Amino acid sequence: MTVEHPSAPAEHPSESPPGSPSQAPGRTAAVIPAAGRGVRLGPGAPKALRTLNGTPMLVHAVRAMAASRYVSLVVVVAPSDGETEVKGMLDEYEHALPERTEFLVVPGGDTRQESVKRGLDALPDDITAVLVHDAARPLVPVDTVDAVVEAVRAGAPAVVPALPLADTVKQVEPQPGGVPEPVVATPERALLRAVQTPQGFERATLVRAHETVPATGEGATDCAGMVERLGQPVVVVPGHEEAFKVTRPLDLVLAEAVLARRRANDGF
Ligand code: CTP
Ligand code: MG
Repeated sequence: MTVEHPSAPAEHPSESPPGSPSQAPGRTAAVIPAAGRGVRLGPGAPKALRTLNGTPMLVHAVRAMAASRYVSLVVVVAPSDGETEVKGMLDEYEHALPERTEFLVVPGGDTRQESVKRGLDALPDDITAVLVHDAARPLVPVDTVDAVVEAVRAGAPAVVPALPLADTVKQVEPQPGGVPEPVVATPERALLRAVQTPQGFERATLVRAHETVPATGEGATDCAGMVERLGQPVVVVPGHEEAFKVTRPLDLVLAEAVLARRRANDGF
């Protein structure tokens, strides 16, 4: 007897969930750029390899993507000198990752944009939707991941999770070292959103963005911005405060506090 659970995610992630709007069938992959050094975090190992409560940040991020039943492949873009270490790390934590998920590790580039491109180049042909998720956002809840995938599967070429801002933002004329900076404008805060990851894309759209938008300077820090430059629509869905990016030392303290709270609440 077959029991239908219309509200449950697909049992077979290789197919569209029952009742989903018409979308080319195909699998969803997550690309995790993890090749950054973490300069703002201070001296030490590459950021993604640093631990949070004993587990590498990258493993938390991989687990966050693999927790979504939509995600059947995770591509980790490792520091260019850390590919072997990252493969070893994934083997070591295999027991903590779902069996249904496949993993690939590829070496990263000098910018995030280049690292994402290398992850995209490694995708097999049957992948039609792609999430791009910063290793530096290890604690994003699975509901946020699912919401992004569902918006892509419903037909949006590009989807970003984002939150309203707490601080008012000023545009300035940047000045060197401590010189007071003239304010140019104050955008209306209610119209602004702080963007997080995973960002979700129809694969062909993201690939075209990476083929068309030139890498200048430090490259694009945000894939959705590249899709905007193609003239394609990008939509925002609600983000989550636990999807914050670990950037500076205080963020490590916050991340460990979030993990301790989760453990106290549900034994995670
Ligand atoms: N990233 C990457 N390849 C690069 C640079 C960044 O894969 N050449 C990844 C990082 O590993 C991170 C994500 O992009 O998961 C977001 O970047 P950011 O938070 O800036 O991380 P880092 O570049 O490592 O940090 P910093 O800028 O402080 O050096
Ligand atoms: Mg960086």
